[in-house]
Amino acid sequence: MTPLLIRHLMGEPIGRFPVWMMRQAGRYLPRYREIRSRVSFWESVTNPKVAVELTELPLEVLNVDALILFSDILTLPYSVGVPVEMKESVGPCLAKPFRKESDFSCFQKFEPKHSVPYVGEALSSLRKKLDPQKALIGFAGAPWTVACYLIEGQGRSDFLEIKKWLHKDPENLNRVLETLALATTQYLEYQIDSGADLIQVFDTWLMQMPRAFFMKYYRATLVHLFNKLREFRKPVIYYSRQSSHLLSELSELPVLLSIDASLSLTDFETLTRKKFSLQGNLDPAVLLLSESDVRRETRQLVAEACKLSLPPILNLGHGILPQTPLENAIAFVEEATQKWV
Ligand code: CP3
Repeated sequence: MTPLLIRHLMGEPIGRFPVWMMRQAGRYLPRYREIRSRVSFWESVTNPKVAVELTELPLEVLNVDALILFSDILTLPYSVGVPVEMKESVGPCLAKPFRKESDFSCFQKFEPKHSVPYVGEALSSLRKKLDPQKALIGFAGAPWTVACYLIEGQGRSDFLEIKKWLHKDPENLNRVLETLALATTQYLEYQIDSGADLIQVFDTWLMQMPRAFFMKYYRATLVHLFNKLREFRKPVIYYSRQSSHLLSELSELPVLLSIDASLSLTDFETLTRKKFSLQGNLDPAVLLLSESDVRRETRQLVAEACKLSLPPILNLGHGILPQTPLENAIAFVEEATQKWV
């Protein structure tokens, strides 16, 4: 049986929009906080039993159509020996950031079966036990966003180190991104072979990239990556945010686009000649309002989605915030999954 979200993407009418939330296995869930108070972040990622349990948590309270593997975009570097520390409320940090091409040579030893066996085990056991109607999402960080973390040492930064590199020696930075893209392709192929029904590639910091670098180098790296992934015949979603300076190029990529709330779905569709569905894009801040506000805003999103030429997947514009009241997450999913009358 094919999951509902996949049938939707194949053009089958399912009578409503498929829905899931980025970061749906996270701190807004009381059970998540309880488990994580006992188990460290990397232990949760590398122990398939814990990863499976955390991945499944949202289904205990939310009728989402997809589960995303509990892992991180820094799992790949971590698996080849990069010491990544997960700091509470800050995210991934490196004590010794990467500053030259040879720092990236560790990615040449990436071999999925040996480097990330726990990811394969978690995905295959999830796919076996999961309701066949639900889709299982595998994911990775995009080369640029992973490079941002490795070069800056953390996510919330001024991005000066990667920008200096980019302006000083763009060819060299491009080679680094291609090295990362190669490992990412192998990683995602392994996730598909292990049971992922679709893939999401996260490019959270794309807004930091100058358009000229995108045009001259990164576009080709992404197209190559996505064309390779297309050979595995599973849908691929590419997430970026606040990247309107790249609007027309993004819409030409051979993938579904997941967009943030800086543009409405309608604006995005009007401003581009897109060939694939969109995913998005309720502002996660809306989920901090009252439950009735959440319901109203979500109904508005559904009404807008009904008017698009290609029916979207409904989601948030970025990850659900840790302080989100559980009843608001429930209200969003309930309204977003309403059957069309
Ligand atoms: O439900 C899910 O989405 C779980 C799987 C998942 C995690 N990280 C687990 C995680 C996914 C898909 C990610 C992707 C990720 N990680 C991205 C791309 C999406 C985005 O948010 O833009 C990025 C940029 C990261 C890097 C990262 N990892 C950050 C910035 C943080 C700190 C965020 C925070 O809320 O404190 C992490 C840690 C992390 N990864 C957590 C989770 C659930 C929080 C860990 C905790 O404190 O319990």
